[in-house]
Amino acid sequence: MRKKLIAGNWKMNNNVEESLKLVEALISSKLKEDVDVLICPPFTSLYPVIRELKNSSIKTGAQNVHYEDKGAYTGEVSPLMLKSLGVEYVIIGHSERRQYFGETDLIINKKVKACLRHGLKPILCVGETLDQREAGLEKETVRNQLIKDLDGVTDGSGLVIAYEPVWAIGTGKTATSTQANEMSSYIREVLADIFTAHIAENMKIQYGGSVNASNAKEILDQPHIDGALVGGASLKADEFIKIINY
Ligand code: 13P
Repeated sequence: MRKKLIAGNWKMNNNVEESLKLVEALISSKLKEDVDVLICPPFTSLYPVIRELKNSSIKTGAQNVHYEDKGAYTGEVSPLMLKSLGVEYVIIGHSERRQYFGETDLIINKKVKACLRHGLKPILCVGETLDQREAGLEKETVRNQLIKDLDGVTDGSGLVIAYEPVWAIGTGKTATSTQANEMSSYIREVLADIFTAHIAENMKIQYGGSVNASNAKEILDQPHIDGALVGGASLKADEFIKIINY
């Protein structure tokens, strides 16, 4: 049985004070116990948030990482730096990074490997654009991303995959639970080809894209969906708590 992982991707929101306020609201609330909760604040809030969560079961993740350990890479943050803070997960290959920052599958592949090398768990994001779905290319797109992004990765057991159809991100337009479940099931088949059926069976596949308190249950009840990667709705404590307690 795969335990659900419900993650909040705060994106470029919340200064330190706002981050701590949101974390305090989560700590002081009753949260479902059979769910893993993860928050991914911006880099500037990681340290204070991790300190605040010291005695809590809520986990912390980063939203990006560089693939080198150190060196002359102005503005970048290395996996070793994240590891030393106590960061557990790293979101990799989010469509916003692919779209606005030119991240290619080759770069994403290097980042996935760098995380695994240092014991950080990558949350690898994949998903098709609206044009690709309308052309019937959604499965081919996601398969290609997985094959390229996981090239040379021999063990997927420390990895999480997030299926985030680009057309559903920040648009209020969610994939139907059937569409999301079908794609997750397909992703598991591809993972079985890349790794083994046993490894694929135990890997978590999240859905992301306009998840909110009203649609969380239907999505999270799907058999192939092992959690959610929540953007906008994770910025409001009440809403995120409702999603966790779906
Ligand atoms: P929204 O929940 O705001 O659509 O964002 C989803 C997302 O991109 C999470 O990584």
